[in-house]
Amino acid sequence: MGSCFSARIKAESPLHTGATSRKISTDGRDLSCRLSSASVPRSPRSESEILESSNLKSFSLNDLRTATRNFRPDSVLGEGGFGCVFKGWIDEHSFKAAKPGTGLVIAVKRLHQESLQGHKEWLTEINYLGLLHHPNLVKLIGYCLEDEHRLLVYEFMTRGSLENHLFRRSLYFQPLSWNLRMKVALDAAKGLAYLHSPEAKVIYRDFKPSNILLDSNYNAKLSDFGLAKDGPTDGKSYVSTRVMGTYGYAAPEYMATGHLTTKSDIYSLGVVLLEMLSGRRVIDKNRPPGEHNLIEWAKPYLASKRRIFQVMDVRIEGQYSLSEALRAATLAVKCLAIEPKSRPNVDEVVKALEQLRGSDSGSAKNGANRKHHHKTRANEASRRETASHPQSSASPMVA
Ligand SMILES: Nc1ncnc2c1ncn2[C@@H]1O[C@H](COP(=O)(O)OP(=O)(O)OP(=O)(O)O)[C@@H](O)[C@H]1O
Ligand SMILES: [Mg+2]
Repeated sequence: MGSCFSARIKAESPLHTGATSRKISTDGRDLSCRLSSASVPRSPRSESEILESSNLKSFSLNDLRTATRNFRPDSVLGEGGFGCVFKGWIDEHSFKAAKPGTGLVIAVKRLHQESLQGHKEWLTEINYLGLLHHPNLVKLIGYCLEDEHRLLVYEFMTRGSLENHLFRRSLYFQPLSWNLRMKVALDAAKGLAYLHSPEAKVIYRDFKPSNILLDSNYNAKLSDFGLAKDGPTDGKSYVSTRVMGTYGYAAPEYMATGHLTTKSDIYSLGVVLLEMLSGRRVIDKNRPPGEHNLIEWAKPYLASKRRIFQVMDVRIEGQYSLSEALRAATLAVKCLAIEPKSRPNVDEVVKALEQLRGSDSGSAKNGANRKHHHKTRANEASRRETASHPQSSASPMVA
């Protein structure tokens, strides 16, 4: 990866783009117009209250400049709608910049400087991640607020995003095995279960593969809380004046009416699950006509014992039994129900994924032998994945 372009991706009509990482906004404003009025404690807090109560380290710009070697282009881990993410190093005790390759590895997100809304989103991230802690949420270490500069400092996630592993074709990003896909799905669902729990009561609103990050052991953690909102009390929905999210992942009722509930997140989870099973992006204009929209194309195949293999990613062929594929597909279909009430809640999703992972040792009669045979291949694939990342602290995207 080389450069970090500062051009902001504009909101576009969903039907006009093959990219899935575009933000949507029904009023057609640009990405900087994300809602961010949420707060974890129910009463809104001022900026200074949020920053003071967050227990996060306040970094100077100079520290982060040194830590990232002056935001070197070859330190860029990735770029999203709000800015670039750089790899850096700090001393784990003093939090001062450290020599590259020593101390604690960090990911530094530098927001584009020109927007007030960018600032609000930066604050929303601190508001949530400063208070919410869970093994399946990425750890926010600190922030920097200096003049017009806004930065966020996270733990570095060695293997980058699920998006890279699912859709990028390169030596660094070998396809994930079936077992790893199911593990990542379960981890991400557990992160969401924590967010939806009475303890946190948060609607995430941005569940998608680029926000699911993987550490060296393929533990998955959710990142990016700039769109998160306090969840409404049970049975009620929050009505957004502006619909925000990402094309393809946002639930249809939310797109149509702005009604936001925890079931909107479940829909997005269903989309990601289907992407993991198929290895296809939810919207891909490069596919043949009729296959641009993964959900519409795949639905007829998903319940059929004979036809489900047409949807499954050929790169994991033979690593799962027919029964496992059908169960995972059924779960995805339930999450994708048009009627929000028909979708399972997140605890039901976690349970179903745990059962799927538990069925690993041959509960499936259909194709058990075949699976056994291919499990060896799966292990090999998993070894290959490890071998393709010779330095565990190396960034997958840094040359
Ligand atoms: N903590 C981290 N450790 C390692 N890589 C990271 C980390 N955070 C982000 N990245 C990388 O940087 C990329 C950009 O992240 P960012 O959250 O800015 O945007 P995005 O999720 O890709 O897009 P969007 O702006 O639509 O949310 C990610 O896709 C990921 O590859
Ligand atoms: Mg992100």
